[in-house]
Amino acid sequence: MTLLQVDAIHSYYGKSHILQGVSLSVPQGSVVTLLGRNGAGKSTTLKTIAGVIAPRQGAVRYGGRDIAGLPAHKVAGLGVCLVPEHRGIFKLLTVEENLRLGMRRDSPWQLDDIYRIFPRLKERRRNGGGQLSGGEQQMLAIGRALMNHPRVLMLDEPVEGLAPVIVEEIVAQIRLIKQAGVSILLVEQNLEVCTQLADRHFIIEQGVIVYEGGNEAFLADENVKDRYLGVGV
Ligand SMILES: Nc1ncnc2c1ncn2[C@@H]1O[C@H](COP(=O)(O)OP(=O)(O)OP(=O)(O)O)[C@@H](O)[C@H]1O
Ligand SMILES: [Mg+2]
Repeated sequence: MTLLQVDAIHSYYGKSHILQGVSLSVPQGSVVTLLGRNGAGKSTTLKTIAGVIAPRQGAVRYGGRDIAGLPAHKVAGLGVCLVPEHRGIFKLLTVEENLRLGMRRDSPWQLDDIYRIFPRLKERRRNGGGQLSGGEQQMLAIGRALMNHPRVLMLDEPVEGLAPVIVEEIVAQIRLIKQAGVSILLVEQNLEVCTQLADRHFIIEQGVIVYEGGNEAFLADENVKDRYLGVGV
């Protein structure tokens, strides 16, 4: 069953026409990636789904309803949550205060659950958000999104710039979040991470989806990586 269906959206920054009819779907319980070169429109797609920017045309169907153009807090309230590229951590609030901002009583993930998943956050719970390492900030951003009871979790480059051991830790947690039934839309440049986690991949180029395929077909197709991602293996 399709949980989230993006249907021919067009998004702009001022006069710049960035997304030119992007369509993609996220089946219930799956991990789907959105891949593409720098500037292709990946973050803009996630921001449009999350309600950070409103599309001028097209629909974002979620649970039988068109949520395109709803403000971001309403979209998040419906369970479609974005962990943005630069993580959106409040530097002057403590770790625990940042987490409490996402808190919802109906979420299966409460404060103690987040501390169990990411023990480092518990150790650092009185530290300011601005004092965290990059990996800890990413854990905090994911933890806060989980407390908001996501049905669809969108992650924008969650392991960018992190040390391999932290990447492994975060990948393991993303897998567990999927197993808990959350559907995930992942933007990530690290192809190994993408192919370890995903069921399906979409590639965007200059605001248009140019490829869609299952993980096995994608792995077997060297051409596609070379052509669209410039990472001939
Ligand atoms: N706030 C903005 N105002 C104007 N143009 C923007 C803005 N944000 C992004 N753009 C432009 O929109 C296009 C798509 O940007 P976007 O951030 O979606 O790319 P991306 O695929 O996420 O790239 P990256 O891999 O570098 O994160 C780019 O040409 C970018 O310069
Ligand atoms: Mg981006």
